[in-house]
Amino acid sequence: MNNDKKKNLLRTALIVALVLVITILHFETSTQHHYLHQIYQRSYYVPIVLGAYWFGISGGLATSSALAVLFALHIVKDWSHHPDYAFQQYAEIPMYLVIGLLVGYLSRVQRKTRESLESAGAELSKAYGKLNDAFDQLRHADRLASLGHLSAGIAHEIRNPLASIQGAVEILGQDIPATDPKAEFARIAKKETARLERLTSEILQFSKPAPPQRLEIKPREIIASACRLVGDQARRQSVEIIQESAEAEGDILVDPEQIKQVLINLIINAIQAQPEGGKIVVSGKTGTDEWIGSVKDSGPGISSEQLDRIFDPFFTTKREGTGLGLSISYQLVKNNGGRIWVTSEPGRGSCFFLAFPVLHNGSG
Ligand SMILES: Nc1ncnc2c1ncn2[C@@H]1O[C@H](COP(=O)(O)OP(=O)(O)O)[C@@H](O)[C@H]1O
Ligand SMILES: [Mg+2]
Repeated sequence: MNNDKKKNLLRTALIVALVLVITILHFETSTQHHYLHQIYQRSYYVPIVLGAYWFGISGGLATSSALAVLFALHIVKDWSHHPDYAFQQYAEIPMYLVIGLLVGYLSRVQRKTRESLESAGAELSKAYGKLNDAFDQLRHADRLASLGHLSAGIAHEIRNPLASIQGAVEILGQDIPATDPKAEFARIAKKETARLERLTSEILQFSKPAPPQRLEIKPREIIASACRLVGDQARRQSVEIIQESAEAEGDILVDPEQIKQVLINLIINAIQAQPEGGKIVVSGKTGTDEWIGSVKDSGPGISSEQLDRIFDPFFTTKREGTGLGLSISYQLVKNNGGRIWVTSEPGRGSCFFLAFPVLHNGSG
């Protein structure tokens, strides 16, 4: 905008300068040199054409009218003693106006054509982007489907014996006094079975996500509830969670429990990304059609190679990670009619975004 303004100012200055120079030449050159006057008279077409080309019909008319007045003054002042020649010059004035108008019109047509070409180009590249996204999602969905099938079978088989082992470990552990060196093994067995239990239930959730029970809800409420649930864990790791939600926001139609789960996954990842403590900003804002929520941390960020894989099931860089949090989140968001994506600057942090259509029911 600023650049455009500068350019227009320069162009106007150039036109004014040309007009002034030619007019001064007109007034200053003796009428004896009428061949020079013929040249000046025609030189006026240069600023007229420039004005019309750069500023359209109004620019062409403004320049040609100004010139018509200046030129008429010159004719009255210097050529009244020569009525024949004066008449011939007056005849040039309507030509100035016609050329100003015509070139202005042509430039407008050209500008309109260019604009429509540009917008067609923009539409095309948007469509291309959407196609690419759809293709990505398709590939992702395909991978998810086969992995989900396989892992669901395994998880299902593991689940029952695992529950028995957990119960047995619990009972065996009760008989060991805390001072006994074996107590440590009992503790490890309990911890590891609990971890397996978490893994199997995440796998089942990933492979057979429950259908969403969607209701109209203020996203702020989901954010507040998710932040409450992870509050303790954040405090323990000296991470401060800041909630930023605009007061006026539209409702969204989602399963609150599922989206809360997504937010919790994102916030826990953000906490884990900042083991030395830090800050997480969870915010939401409503645009014209969409509500966009985000979870932003100031952790190490995600490298571009990893960025392509973090939503893949079982991709994890953590020693005790399952690599399922983000792929579950991806599915839950999609099943609730939304989008999830991430931007990350290695060394500065990551920001995960969620978007859902806002309902226009007058309450938002
Ligand atoms: N906020 C974050 N900052 C940095 N890396 C992240 C963040 N969130 C996710 N990741 C990366 O994505 C991987 C997958 O995350 P997720 O699916 O939740 O599985 P998990 O947390 O079990 O590793 C993580 O192991 C980590 O490498
Ligand atoms: Mg996780």
